Amino acid sequence: MTADHRRAAVLCGIGTWLPPRVVTNDELARQLDTSDEWIRKRTGIRERRVIEPGMSTSVLAVEAGARALKSAGGADVDLVIVATTTPDHPCPSTAPEVASRLGLSGVPAFDLNAVCAGFVYALATAAGHIAAGIAERVLVIGADTFTTVLNPEDRTTAAIFGDGAGAVVLRAGTADEPGALGPFDLGSDGTGADLLIVPAGGSEQRGSGRPLDPADVHFRMDGQPVFRNAVARMSESAGKVLDNAGWRLEDVDRFACHQANARIIGAVARNLRVPEERFLLNVDRVGNTVAASIPLVLGDAAAAGELVPGNRVLVTSFGAGLGWGSTVLTWPELVVE
Ligand code: COA
Repeated sequence: MTADHRRAAVLCGIGTWLPPRVVTNDELARQLDTSDEWIRKRTGIRERRVIEPGMSTSVLAVEAGARALKSAGGADVDLVIVATTTPDHPCPSTAPEVASRLGLSGVPAFDLNAVCAGFVYALATAAGHIAAGIAERVLVIGADTFTTVLNPEDRTTAAIFGDGAGAVVLRAGTADEPGALGPFDLGSDGTGADLLIVPAGGSEQRGSGRPLDPADVHFRMDGQPVFRNAVARMSESAGKVLDNAGWRLEDVDRFACHQANARIIGAVARNLRVPEERFLLNVDRVGNTVAASIPLVLGDAAAAGELVPGNRVLVTSFGAGLGWGSTVLTWPELVVE
């Protein structure tokens, strides 16, 4: 086989951060009509992290970003992308402020909103910038404080989501190096937009002239069709990206699925006929952290020694939009906290 010297984005740093406050299922059950048993059985989640007053998405993003830069050995990046659906403000985007607080004023920085698929979309966007020669080193952060858009009285969504951030640094390298990302498979289906939605707060509601219904400012989810779509889309996308990469399912050592629900991950494993042990899991401790989910599960697994250099990894995610995306990489030598 000849070496592949095409210019590619190579993973060279990773960092994660969770707000310190832990909310257990029992604590939720003291406020809502639910139970630890119900939540664990239906979702696999035991606890999640939640921000405290004074924190916001940028705070989490800066913490994770700083750790990723340290892991990469320095802050000499020339692009910052923050994948988030819960920016600090509707305008401006959060990334420039995050970049400045990381000492990166002057560096181009923008937000990317693809909800739970946001981190994989941001990886693809960063990889495209690197492949085109627009950037050499990119800081990609996934950060969300989704608990800020939940209806405190909705037991279904309160049980599922948590806050967190994870980040990686990508550098220009070649496609045959460990850590090289790609190919990618990305997709969307806007006919499912209503399945996971915050109805108010955007131009549609503001332009309607109708008074705001307070219920519309919160996130709503139609759980069962979302479950079915998540399983189908991640399974299909995983198959496509493997075909594009020329890998077989048995070549994959670790599957890093979007951490939405342990039952969804189990169903993807059954669909693909892969033993569940090869699927990384931290949803039990963090819940669904939206754009932070993929870097958090990768960072946690690397820190725990469940993901080691040389492992072939398939990353796949799905979320509101609907949107989904997958990629593959061989795990490189990285400094991990
Ligand atoms: N505690 C107790 N009962 C709950 C509950 C909770 N936290 N949340 C929902 N219920 C109730 C429902 O109200 C319903 O009660 P009813 O029968 O009296 O109407 C009952 O449990 C069953 O609800 P159902 O929606 O059929 O349960 P389910 O097995 O589909 O599980 C989800 C619900 C939300 C866990 C599941 O649909 C799911 O995981 N969906 C995907 C969500 C997701 O991953 N979203 C993010 C995608 S990126």
